[in-house]
Amino acid sequence: MSETLTIALSKGRILKETLPLLEKANIYPLEDISKSRKLIFDTNHENIKLVILRATDVPTYVEHGVADFGVAGKDVLMEANTKNLYELLDLKISKCRLMTAGVQGQELPNRRLKVASKFTKTAKAYFAEQGIQADVIKLYGAMELAPIMGLADLIVDIVDTGNTLRANGLEARDLIADISTRLVVNKAAYKTKYEHIQPILDMLNGAVSAEA
Ligand code: ATP
Ligand code: PRP
Ligand code: MG
Repeated sequence: MSETLTIALSKGRILKETLPLLEKANIYPLEDISKSRKLIFDTNHENIKLVILRATDVPTYVEHGVADFGVAGKDVLMEANTKNLYELLDLKISKCRLMTAGVQGQELPNRRLKVASKFTKTAKAYFAEQGIQADVIKLYGAMELAPIMGLADLIVDIVDTGNTLRANGLEARDLIADISTRLVVNKAAYKTKYEHIQPILDMLNGAVSAEA
């Protein structure tokens, strides 16, 4: 009997780009994920299942070993506990940048900075590394509002085209990290299920290279 492998996928924009990549690796769900309220899907491989999660929950499932693989943005992984994870592959999808941003033309105040972000761990580490004193305020979305409303001097957020910043009178300042979607695997599963995991890894590697 072959052992089941579970792949945790991030819903939203990453899912849209992950499914074609999985298909190139000859892995596809047996029903249309976008038309279903189900969260767990069988695939054309008897031993491979897909689970669809909120992006920030993907590392948690893999960290605890209940999913073997995870597909998540580097931004999410930087915020997560990843001591039980190996980052195996850059899937090179959902590329964007994690940046600081502030009000267009506005100079930073001469005091401890206020920074708003949903990426608090990364933001704290970044400002500490820069030797800049900053208090980081946790937000869950619409970060662009914080500098406009005076909640923060800067935000740390995802930038792609820059349209969202521009539309809100903000400008990108410093690059913190280039972001793309990564494939992670649970460390224990990588050892115990190696012979099942390696072929999937090879197929995905081939699919990513074919895209390049
Ligand atoms: P939720 O909706 O659950 O709060 P989210 O907004 O982070 O989560 P998505 O917008 O689908 O979910 O983004 C998922 C991932 O895609 C992010 O973690 C990041 O890696 C990447 N991403 C986010 N915004 C962009 C963007 N504008 N362009 C490209 N990639 C992006
Ligand atoms: C993401 C991100 C930025 C925006 C950046 O938001 O949080 O706001 O994209 O992309 P841009 O530089 O091309 O404008 P998203 O569209 O995911 O909306 P959300 O706030 O619902 O996550
Ligand atoms: Mg989003």
